[in-house]
Amino acid sequence: MKRKLLDYLRCPSCASAILLQSVALEEGSEIMEGRLACDSCARTFPVVRGVPRFAAPEKLEPDKAATAENFGWQWQHFTHGDELYAEQFLGWISPVPPEFFKDKVVLEGGCGKGRHTLLAAGWGAREVIGVDLSDAVETAFAATRHLENAHIVQADIYHLPFARTFDYAFSVGVLHHLPDPRAGFRSLAATVKPGGHLSAWVYGAENNEWITRGINPLREKFSSRIDRRALLHLSKLPTALMYLATKLIYGPLNSSKRGSALARQLFYNDYLNAISKFGWREQHTIVFDHLVAPTSHYIRREEFETWWRDIEAKELAIGWHNKNSWRGFARI
Ligand SMILES: C[S@@+](CC[C@H](N)C(=O)[O-])C[C@H]1O[C@@H](n2cnc3c(N)ncnc32)[C@H](O)[C@@H]1O
Ligand SMILES: [Zn+2]
Repeated sequence: MKRKLLDYLRCPSCASAILLQSVALEEGSEIMEGRLACDSCARTFPVVRGVPRFAAPEKLEPDKAATAENFGWQWQHFTHGDELYAEQFLGWISPVPPEFFKDKVVLEGGCGKGRHTLLAAGWGAREVIGVDLSDAVETAFAATRHLENAHIVQADIYHLPFARTFDYAFSVGVLHHLPDPRAGFRSLAATVKPGGHLSAWVYGAENNEWITRGINPLREKFSSRIDRRALLHLSKLPTALMYLATKLIYGPLNSSKRGSALARQLFYNDYLNAISKFGWREQHTIVFDHLVAPTSHYIRREEFETWWRDIEAKELAIGWHNKNSWRGFARI
């Protein structure tokens, strides 16, 4: 944890400033072990392995704990980077371009292994703070600690340890895994200062009936409950099918002039074409990610719009991404 992070932290209980109470170990500019304390109430928060910890996964409600456990495992196993992440991220937060990040103070809600916090820092954000509830923060910290403007915090999106100070907050692939996605969205929006901006990307209900009817029962009753190492191996079978289909059919057809009309008729073409550029490791991550989640909501456009109306968002732009998900961007 870099000392300048203290300027942004607030007590999640009483919103007072957070002070550095003690330091047990420092490595360069990082406080690796220490303790933070609220300036007003009695709460204290440890800094463990470089990450300030505002949420203890072992003290969570069971549904949140299961989500944090499974994703914590996932992001400590799938730690790789991919050169296509930038393009993919820009698709999820469109119409935001890389230049938008310049000099902004940015929050990522649910940063996973830190791939987007890393990109935002590289695109010139003044400071970017990635927050995650799970042990994914271990991977995110390792991936971003070398950057002076990147910070990782372990916290629950429902109880964020920040004031309304961010120029931009975004959340990609997280809100639909919360027990109450709308409440998570509201909590994230509450960290953006007036005139700042917010982006969110969620699974859509539309065009995903084959998942909600066919895959979800399997995910809820089986794949999110079994041993994660067993799922890691079992998920190689659907990955192999997807990998072959995308590499032999979707990718080639979509990139050929004569094939693209035919490709548009194929099942789930927009998404599978987008995925076709990824190699085995990333495709395996994607399949595992879908099967490991204990909670996944599929959200209708109408409902997504009401989230933004609730927070009185301005200049709202909602787009259908890959014909299977919703992305939103607005001024707060
Ligand atoms: C599918 S991953 C997406 C991670 C990252 N946004 C990305 O795209 O690489 C969902 C992430 O949300 C995190 N998460 C789930 N519930 C959360 C909560 N209540 N507060 C903060 N993060 C949460 C999980 O730990 C996980 O890392
Ligand atoms: Zn306090």
